[in-house]
Amino acid sequence: MRQALWLLLLIALPAAAGKSCVDCHAGAAERSWALSKHGVIARIESGRERKRAPDCAACHAFEAKAPTPPHYTKKTSRQQAREQATAGCGACHSPRYVTEQLAAAQRGLAIGEMKRREAEALVALARKELTATELAQVEKLFATLRDENLRELRLGLAHQSPDYQWWLGQAALDGSLLRIKGALGEARRSRAAAR
Ligand code: HEC
Ligand code: HEC
Ligand code: HEC
Repeated sequence: MRQALWLLLLIALPAAAGKSCVDCHAGAAERSWALSKHGVIARIESGRERKRAPDCAACHAFEAKAPTPPHYTKKTSRQQAREQATAGCGACHSPRYVTEQLAAAQRGLAIGEMKRREAEALVALARKELTATELAQVEKLFATLRDENLRELRLGLAHQSPDYQWWLGQAALDGSLLRIKGALGEARRSRAAAR
């Protein structure tokens, strides 16, 4: 039995060992970290033995233990992984600082969710009022807001990246929301003019 397990490990390990987090999580996940103070320090000090700033595995303990998917099982759920990812902050920062940071992240996310709900309400109206072509444009804008802007905000908050929180997050959400309002307004005006 033991031997069979070892054999399984030997087969599985080379595949897992060849891939790092960023091979699979390139893009926003990696960049939001790379642009954070953690990422910048980690890069500058990469040759040093003592690591002052955390890399992916330092915070993502669950995923680091299971470096290829599925990262989670029934016993080690995504929710536990989430909690674990913030449990380590206190190893380097004071409890008060960590509490403040996490509270600010909650507020930031709540604001982002508020913008999503506002956009959702506009899209609901658009679905009743607009033609298929007009609606397609609004739906596309909404998909960007929900799937890109909101995710980038979440990553900015999770990875303490001001660029992702403010430019790619909140400001981009505002921009998408304005464009949805604009598209709906324009369709209404052209309808009124045609009457
Ligand atoms: C071989 C590709 C691969 C590697 C290597 C990998 N991941 Fe993943 N990761 C995935 C896939 C696919 C998912 C989505 C499926 C899942 O939840 O298991 C995922 C999900 C995640 C999630 C949850 C994301 C979400 O949207 O809910 C986190 C966090 C994560 N990975 C972090 C890491 C970290 C940190 C490492 C390195 C220790 C890592 N991953 C290595 C492919 C990979
Ligand atoms: C300072 C700690 C820290 C570091 C360093 C870090 N992460 Fe994260 N990461 C988090 C926290 C906290 C979250 C939010 C909780 C969660 O979803 O797991 C998160 C979320 C994520 C997510 C999920 C985003 C989503 O859509 O929900 C992915 C994927 C991810 N990190 C990948 C990475 C990768 C890849 C690296 C390295 C390039 C990295 N993280 C470095 C703490 C960190
Ligand atoms: C391995 C140690 C380590 C861990 C773990 C760690 N940090 Fe950091 N963090 C640092 C260092 C070093 C700096 C740069 C010096 C500074 O600004 O205090 C930093 C900077 C920061 C900054 C930027 C401060 C600024 O001036 O811009 C924030 C925000 C932050 N950390 C939050 C967190 C949060 C939240 C977690 C947990 C999810 C975490 N850190 C985990 C070491 C760590």
